[in-house]
Amino acid sequence: MLKTRNCGDLRLEDAGQQVTLAGWVHRWRDHAGLVFLDLRDRSGLVQVKIDQATAPEAHDLARDVRTEWVIQVSGTVATRPEGMTNPDLPTGEVELEVSTLKVLNRAKTPPFYINKDENVDEALRMRYRYLDLRRPAMQRNLILRHNVIRFIRNYLSDRGFVEIETPILFKTTPEGARDYLVPSRVHPGKFFALPQSPQQLKQLLMVAGYERYFQIARCFRDEDQRGDRQPEFTQLDLEMSFVTREDIMDLIEDMMTRIVEELTDLELVTRPFPRLSHDEALRRYGTDKPDLRYGMEIVDLSAIAGASSFRVFTEAVAAGNPVRAIVAPGCAGYSRKQIDDLGALAQSAGAKGLAWMAVEESEAGPVRSPIAKFFSAEQLVALVEQAGAAPGDLILFAADTPAVVSAALDALRREFGERLGLADPDQIAFCWVIDFPLFEWNEDERRWDPSHHLFTAPMWEDVPLLDADPGRARGQQYDLACNGYEIAGGSIRIHDRAVQEKIFGLIGLDVADARQRFGHMLEAFEFGTPPHGGIAPGIDRLVMLLAQEPNIREVIAFPKTQQAADLMAGAPSEVEPQQLADLHICVVDEAKG
Ligand code: AMO
Ligand code: AMP
Repeated sequence: MLKTRNCGDLRLEDAGQQVTLAGWVHRWRDHAGLVFLDLRDRSGLVQVKIDQATAPEAHDLARDVRTEWVIQVSGTVATRPEGMTNPDLPTGEVELEVSTLKVLNRAKTPPFYINKDENVDEALRMRYRYLDLRRPAMQRNLILRHNVIRFIRNYLSDRGFVEIETPILFKTTPEGARDYLVPSRVHPGKFFALPQSPQQLKQLLMVAGYERYFQIARCFRDEDQRGDRQPEFTQLDLEMSFVTREDIMDLIEDMMTRIVEELTDLELVTRPFPRLSHDEALRRYGTDKPDLRYGMEIVDLSAIAGASSFRVFTEAVAAGNPVRAIVAPGCAGYSRKQIDDLGALAQSAGAKGLAWMAVEESEAGPVRSPIAKFFSAEQLVALVEQAGAAPGDLILFAADTPAVVSAALDALRREFGERLGLADPDQIAFCWVIDFPLFEWNEDERRWDPSHHLFTAPMWEDVPLLDADPGRARGQQYDLACNGYEIAGGSIRIHDRAVQEKIFGLIGLDVADARQRFGHMLEAFEFGTPPHGGIAPGIDRLVMLLAQEPNIREVIAFPKTQQAADLMAGAPSEVEPQQLADLHICVVDEAKG
């Protein structure tokens, strides 16, 4: 080894020891006759002192050293003189008195500071990701990620799960996104699809009798990027035979609880994890991934609003649509501009407008609002009471279809959660969302789309609804939400060919199509398939929340940009004409036609 100890591990009890350290120069100060360096390796920092009087050769070298050079130093661990200790540093009571110094590698001036937490342009960080990953905050994140994965592997192995790898070159495994395709050289004109998840393969492993499977699985989805989405990402993919949804939810709940308690200092605020039906989640929070760290629940005011003379409200209620609201505490004094900005936010979520009332007792009545005139004094009092609003609060109303009202009020609730600091960053709040509808109606294609995926079983008692009224059939789906993100999705699966074929039919796959794409699944179901189910927590999103980061890029070593590109290596990139010829591919330049 080129070093005998780690920089960050040295303590008072090491004083007097001879050690050799190696690492990066984090900071550098030259005082007359003395050079001080902060030397950094993965374990942390330690101060290194090079004295011209005792180590003249090392001192000469040290004067030329610059930040991010890689050096090796040998010397004696010494107690720092009184008044010179650094209580912010775990090694702050000691320093290394250097006798020899060797430069192992020089460094150009980095394009951004490694030794300061400052906002660096995202593109620059991605272009020099290996430097970005040197920053202590990034190292903490990736080490946390490692610890989470190690914990999961041990936890599941201890409970009889077997980790099995499934192929990356496979056939389409739809989860609602576009596939990444890989052309076959050996089979001209044919393509592999990269799995959007190992869904089919894990089900086939249940047919094969493995009973408890898991995998830290890479998934590929060609879809629009967002802060919580990457084109390739990692799931803890898991499947079990002979289980009900309770078994899977219990297992995941216990595992998540222990991960938070054993690997973080965060406060787990919801125990046991609350369970909300899909319908209830939308009514109370406007979303199927609510942030339960704060209340600010949506209130339904349809009855009073429908009895007013405000046309927007009465027409909505007459059409069977709701008028719902959220109450922003202490925001009655908002300016016109602030309220307009909230209206714009609601509109970007699909709302046509955003009516408001500021709760302020005056001669004119209990509220100040452009729509107050459409309500009687009694109605206003009842409205404020039903909304649970107090003087000084701002009530914001949306009237539209349930979906639009939910989306608009969800956006506002999230905005206030941040703006008013209602969401405590040191808290973690999980909840289960269950009883999803099995299908969502796709108006454009005029067909049913699966809410989860093709293989999710209906509630067994709802199977007759598949013929009678598919929109009312509920799925045996369960999602785990945390702090406003969807962390995991899972379901009990169909294990019967006839039911599976019926689902294919409802989502508009004809028999020939279904057999061509999923014939292997239908066939497998005829060879003794155990009832089974599973779930897949997204590792990136989970670690993002545990690391208190706002974006999954912060917990992935080499992520793609918003445009699904790798700026460091320059991928995707053009390839040699011969490679294309070998793959039987001809690229058409759309610009040239
Ligand atoms: P689902 O599609 O809900 O279910 O995905 C499960 C979890 O994977 C994570 N996730 C993502 N993370 C980062 N970037 C993405 N583009 C991305 N897409 C999904 C989320 C999500 O909750 N086969 C089923 C699971 C099952 O039924 O067992 C599936 O993939 O955290
Ligand atoms: P208008 O009658 O269109 O001038 O709207 C009066 C107020 O109602 C404005 O503050 C609008 O933003 C608001 N408004 C309009 N449509 C809706 C709606 N669908 N839901 C809630 N408020 C609305």
